[in-house]
Amino acid sequence: MRYPWWYVPFLTSPMLIAVVSVIHVLLAHYAVGGGMFLAVEAYYAYRRRNAPYLEYLRKHARFFMYVTVVFGAVTGVGIWWTIGLASPLATEVLIRTFVFAWATEWVTFVVELVTVFLFAYGFGRTAPRWHVAFAAAYAAAAWLSLVIITAITAFMLNPGRWIETPTFAAAFFNPQFLPQVISRTGGALMLCTLYVYLHTSFTVNDADLRDLVQRRSTRPALLGAVLICLGGLWWYAALPASSKAALAAASVLNLMMVGIFALTVVVFFALYVGPASHPGWLTPGFSLLLFLCGLAAFSTGEFIREAVRKPYIVYNFVTGNQLTIHDTKHVRREGVLNSYRWLHTYVRQHYPELIDSNGRVLYEKLPELAVKDRIELGRAIFLYCCNNCHAEARGYSAVGYLIHGWNRDMILRTIHHLHEADFFMPPWPGNAAEAELLADYLYSIAPEKPRGMLFGVPKEEESNER
Ligand code: HEC
Repeated sequence: MRYPWWYVPFLTSPMLIAVVSVIHVLLAHYAVGGGMFLAVEAYYAYRRRNAPYLEYLRKHARFFMYVTVVFGAVTGVGIWWTIGLASPLATEVLIRTFVFAWATEWVTFVVELVTVFLFAYGFGRTAPRWHVAFAAAYAAAAWLSLVIITAITAFMLNPGRWIETPTFAAAFFNPQFLPQVISRTGGALMLCTLYVYLHTSFTVNDADLRDLVQRRSTRPALLGAVLICLGGLWWYAALPASSKAALAAASVLNLMMVGIFALTVVVFFALYVGPASHPGWLTPGFSLLLFLCGLAAFSTGEFIREAVRKPYIVYNFVTGNQLTIHDTKHVRREGVLNSYRWLHTYVRQHYPELIDSNGRVLYEKLPELAVKDRIELGRAIFLYCCNNCHAEARGYSAVGYLIHGWNRDMILRTIHHLHEADFFMPPWPGNAAEAELLADYLYSIAPEKPRGMLFGVPKEEESNER
């Protein structure tokens, strides 16, 4: 309501968040799992005085540092940019609620950065005990940052008691917190193994060393797969009823859920029958295949987590069209054109004749506007109220595709009954005159019924004929 709208054609801005965050998640989980791997394995290598393995860990630590510090940090900042622009209200709510959690998060980042450098450059320079301690400190800080961020993303899906008692503790320990910490920790372990496989299969030629890496790195992934499944089941149980209903109603989400479990199980068995018991399996092709399966499972999981939040960004608090539940009542009374600050400015600048001496929109004058202007205003309303989830004529979940062959009356009715037509949608926030403008715009982009479709005789006509 107070913020301007960020227009991303075709893709819609929330999908841009999805793209950036999926990339980030694939790096961030490796940053956590890799930390644990390096700490445990450095300890092991020093104890066994295994110089070749230490040398391997040195190389892996470099690779790990470049990947996670450079790309992880860039995409992490990228998420801040995109969520701040695409969902300013939800971002504001998160910052207000979690300001100290985020402050702590920055501390963990600093610890991570310092310790990863000390570890990566400490081979052959630091006493083994200190060297392992740096890796352990890194692993602890990285896992702590996973815990903090998970609390925040889990909060959006189900803030639980926070809605009635808005305290920090209620927000942090929300119903989704533990299940997601478990599945994400599992995901971190699993993903780390897949990165280790990839790195090893392409860089290590010595067969003995490769078998050792393979043996050492497979076990965490098996544990990870178990944690993913346990956390995933608990995650489902702790979903709000509306998210479960969304999962059940959208068949594509159904398929995706099955896909994640299937991929996790496939990776589990591929690891179990493959690298866990057969040395020499670690070829570049095999590790690339597993890596891609892992990426697919991860990306699908994140997509589902985002999708089942609809119609909310923060469940029961911020809706997908950038209003709080409280705002929605206010906007319905005052009208969208009056209450959205930037829309109001747009009307004032482009249609000054529509504004009265108190600065309020003269709704009774809207029907007198030229059709072109009504469509233009309808489009502006669309961008603020619908573009969070729908592209325009073409693109991601484009409304144009959804209203193929609809007449204007059907469109208008649906606008008035938005949350009844589909409970993934928030209620229509505007008034009747604004619904007419939006209907004009949507009707102007509604394509005709796809040609060549045959229909049977509608039921009423059939019975009339008899
Ligand atoms: C929070 C996200 C969200 C918002 C905001 C939203 N929608 Fe939707 N809408 C959906 C989803 C999800 C569907 C189901 C889409 C699908 O099946 O592909 C949907 C379906 C629709 C349909 C098809 C309904 C049917 O019964 O076939 C129409 C029309 C529609 N939306 C119009 C709008 C309009 C107009 C607005 C703005 C006033 C809007 N939506 C705002 C998420 C949203």
